[in-house]
Amino acid sequence: MSPQIEPFEGAIGAAVNNVDLSQDLSAVDRKTLVDAWNKHSVLVFREQEMTSDQFLRFSRYFGDLEIHVLEQYLHREHPEILVVSNILKDGKNVGIPDAGRYWHTDLSYLAKPSRGSILYALEIPEEGGETLGNTLWASTAAAYEALPEDKQQKLLGLTAEYSLGNRFNKLAGDGTKHIKMSEDQKSKTPPVTHPIVRTHPITGRKSILVNEGHTTHIHGLPEEESRGLLEELWTHCTKPEFTYRHVWQPGDVVMWDNVPTQHLAICDYALPQRRLLHRTTLTGDRPYLA
Ligand code: OGA
Ligand code: MN
Repeated sequence: MSPQIEPFEGAIGAAVNNVDLSQDLSAVDRKTLVDAWNKHSVLVFREQEMTSDQFLRFSRYFGDLEIHVLEQYLHREHPEILVVSNILKDGKNVGIPDAGRYWHTDLSYLAKPSRGSILYALEIPEEGGETLGNTLWASTAAAYEALPEDKQQKLLGLTAEYSLGNRFNKLAGDGTKHIKMSEDQKSKTPPVTHPIVRTHPITGRKSILVNEGHTTHIHGLPEEESRGLLEELWTHCTKPEFTYRHVWQPGDVVMWDNVPTQHLAICDYALPQRRLLHRTTLTGDRPYLA
């Protein structure tokens, strides 16, 4: 048995068949998966059943794991696992209730955004036979490559500010109940500067890094022009031709390359519809443009 990679039709994603992630994989199979991850950006594994230790072992094939700054949502025994869930226990959220209702790139508000993340679905909401709480991924590399050359050139010299506070301010502005950050969490996440376009450390492909969730403004442009350009880029990146929509089933594992992608969680469910996923996060390097 060795993993079979079946690319999706669009610009992003592949299904991986014929692999049991609860087992320790051979070096050859691991390389197949690492190469597929770099090539297709999103990998989908169906019908998996793993313990948390097995999930962690699988996650470490792709790099070092990082522990999320929102420590109130970490798995009790395995802090490398971030619990993503709307479930309450004793009136408190057992996990982060909203991991991404804006298009975003994970941890792009840190100096070193993550290299990738892996979600393992345990409970998925549904209503009348329809699955809720889908997740979308967009290839920001395909989006960059589709821009006219003069536009690409214009973006290359620009940098922007990214912040986690931006996301929570946005949620508050929308009237959504938002997560309270402690002073310590705030001090660990000061705004950072990154280029607007970054280069992939393995493939060398360029991709658009600015995202609706975390980017506050482009440096050196008047506010109105910055806002206009950001909105234009966000709309462009998330066009259907660059995206893949995942309809979850319990037992699904989806891993993504966080460098050339953005993603969005569709928050169209509410308790008593329960959603529970475990996430691991791979450490990354400082974005650069080469
Ligand atoms: C995440 C995330 C999306 C989802 O875990 O980084 O954005 O659908 N999750 O839960
Ligand atoms: Mn995310």
